[in-house]
Amino acid sequence: MKPLHSTLPAWRALAAHAEALRGAHLRDLVGADDRRFAHSSVEFAGWLLDLSRQRITRETLALLAELARAVDLPAKVAAMFRGDPINATEGRAVLHTALRSNFAGNATIQHEVQAARAALERFVAAVRAGEQRGATGRPFRQVVNVGIGGSDLGPLLVCDALRHEWSGGLTPHFVSNVDRTQLDDLARTLDPAETLVIVCSKTFTTQETQANAQAARAWLTGALGPSAAGEHFVAVSTNAAAMDAFGIRADRRFTMWDWVGGRYSVWSAVGLIAELVIGSERFGEFLRGASEIDAHFLDTPSERNLPVLMGLIGVWNRSFLGLPTLAVLPYEQRLARLPAYLQQLEMESNGKSVTLEGVPVDYPTAPVVWGEPGSNAQHSFFQMLHQGWPSAALDFIAPLSGSWGTTDAQDLALQNCFAQLQAFAFGMTGAEAEAQMRAGGLDAREAARLGPHRTYEGNRPSSLLLYPRTTARTLGQLLALYEHVTFVQGAVWGINSFDQYGVELGKKLAGAIAIEGGRAPGGPGAEGIAALIDYVVRHR
Ligand code: F6P
Repeated sequence: MKPLHSTLPAWRALAAHAEALRGAHLRDLVGADDRRFAHSSVEFAGWLLDLSRQRITRETLALLAELARAVDLPAKVAAMFRGDPINATEGRAVLHTALRSNFAGNATIQHEVQAARAALERFVAAVRAGEQRGATGRPFRQVVNVGIGGSDLGPLLVCDALRHEWSGGLTPHFVSNVDRTQLDDLARTLDPAETLVIVCSKTFTTQETQANAQAARAWLTGALGPSAAGEHFVAVSTNAAAMDAFGIRADRRFTMWDWVGGRYSVWSAVGLIAELVIGSERFGEFLRGASEIDAHFLDTPSERNLPVLMGLIGVWNRSFLGLPTLAVLPYEQRLARLPAYLQQLEMESNGKSVTLEGVPVDYPTAPVVWGEPGSNAQHSFFQMLHQGWPSAALDFIAPLSGSWGTTDAQDLALQNCFAQLQAFAFGMTGAEAEAQMRAGGLDAREAARLGPHRTYEGNRPSSLLLYPRTTARTLGQLLALYEHVTFVQGAVWGINSFDQYGVELGKKLAGAIAIEGGRAPGGPGAEGIAALIDYVVRHR
């Protein structure tokens, strides 16, 4: 049995170092190094990663790099790109990188990926050119993606983030939640004759997606006749039998592989809705952006490797400084759905409590990931971040120019972003607050009374990622970057980042419950669920 990573000398050295730094304030850490920015920022392909406001010293970075070596990170990265079955609990390779990088996997896999891409490009071109039409002969104008989790969050983020790159006249819509609200809303506004539905589900068994797909089929065939389903439905899945049962035409199926995890699948046919909306050329740029990060991750020494540095800093903040959450704060409205996307990526990947060998860990793993775009967030929960109990590490992300290429409004966004970086790091002491109030004309007593309320402790650690502009290429870079950050953290924590057994129990129990008919699962608490079902039936 492999010992826990917390028993490694490199881990212990970091724990001792964290203890030694416990009382240090960012004012001291930054003040102690007049070349702090140069020592703790890295550039790659137009990206800047600024770690100068993390609660680290140069020694911290050296110790973290030592920990990465001690857990064999480079060998683990190589094993992933080679296609070794590193998802040991499911006996699978992890090769989402092969969907965008011709140096990942092997020749057979690359061949399959190329063939799948060619089929997607043909279909996308035919729909966008109006050659593939609906049952009444009208071209498609609306595309509805029915899927959930990784079969929803990635394509939704890409469509949202690249709205300024939409072309071809297709509008994307997303239906994920089991309560069917999204579909009911769409059915009231969309014209079925010009609507294409993508049933996107790796397994093609997910309850939410199956229920919504059936409802979508009922809506479309109700309006256009029973034979319309053949023209209006396509599917993305690995499950041929289930697609047969649903009645998806053989020429309307796009394949997936078991070596692509749902939350890593936006690069595959799961991204079809986005490819339809932005076109295959732009989608190709999205893939190329990700590939640039893959190459950087594979080949760059850890001290200049963006995902390695960000991953290690995440481990430092979570496992050594004890910060339970990560707030993701894009100063770019286009990335409004990024926090939701990263919630699945990081929390479904690394929200685990046992090692690959099944041994309980004695250190915290994935933080709670959350966030909102700045500057909206400033007018909401930033109060708590500034003056509440310190509980979050902060990832600021900002483009240099707005998505339409303008800079004036983005200057305002950057001005706010930089001000927040400063305020979170250095805060304002009670004495400074009082002095400011006195200078503004307040008497000494009133200034002393208000002082504690107007004090900012600071010392809230943050990273900043700057990049040129939100485009297909930079979005591909950003998402691949966070994928590899997640990989680095999983490797350091010694857990399997690629299964998700934690979601299974609830699915199984849901299958044992029926509101109509009053069926409750057995086991502990059965009486409570039966009482709830009874309450629903009596009060509806
Ligand atoms: O329930 C979790 C999950 O399995 C995710 O990992 C996945 O992205 C999602 O459900 C959807 O799965 P599928 O694509 O098979 O419908």
